[in-house]
Amino acid sequence: MDTTQNQEFVAMPRIGDKAPEFKAVTTQGEINFPSGYKGSWAILFSHPADFTPVCTSEFMTFASLESKFTEANCKLVGLSVDGLYSHIAWLRTIKEKIEYKGMKNVEVNFPLIEDITMEVAKKYGMMMPGESNTKAVRAVFFVDPNGIIRAIIYYPLSLGRNFDELYRALIAMQTADAFSIATPADWRPGDDVIVPPAGSCGSAKDRMEGKDDMKCYDWFFCTKKIDKDLVLKTIFKK
Ligand code: BEZ
Repeated sequence: MDTTQNQEFVAMPRIGDKAPEFKAVTTQGEINFPSGYKGSWAILFSHPADFTPVCTSEFMTFASLESKFTEANCKLVGLSVDGLYSHIAWLRTIKEKIEYKGMKNVEVNFPLIEDITMEVAKKYGMMMPGESNTKAVRAVFFVDPNGIIRAIIYYPLSLGRNFDELYRALIAMQTADAFSIATPADWRPGDDVIVPPAGSCGSAKDRMEGKDDMKCYDWFFCTKKIDKDLVLKTIFKK
């Protein structure tokens, strides 16, 4: 299939865009997204289908981590192109029957959107016909408290997500916002952060002469310490 010919499949919101608005039926009642999530971060993620093994492992993992995301002011919203009763039956099966990697009796308390018409999946570019015409791929949209898309990650059908990475990415973006910095490769709270590049020849010189409280690898690449406790206190407001 030539996917470039089919605009309804290729429309895709981008980082920095306002998250497309929708109203949907979910396993937790009706939701309005992102307007109903104002003031919180939200992770909107799609999965290919109910009653499939990779998705089951993902839902159990995400549900087990939900309280950590809640503490970081982030709400989870799942989606697949299955119907509501299939979602309910699948979530009941997970809770009642599945024991996996020490997780059991797992209750999925975040909303799972029914999207049989694929309306939301198409709006968010979750359908990738080269991968499947009938199943959404594993898309992850990070939406900030103002309803702006801040990060997007896609995985193919066969690849279960790394939820530690999703959590790390969330905390890193929150830290970048709070301290006006950027975070280097593999950053975790307590690691040095990257300060914005020098904006003038004078500040580049000062940095290289060690006048600022930074470690500079070169004039354009400087880091500074932010205490782990300060990061955690700022993010978790504790
Ligand atoms: C799964 O979740 O196991 C799965 C779903 C669709 C295609 C392949 C695997």
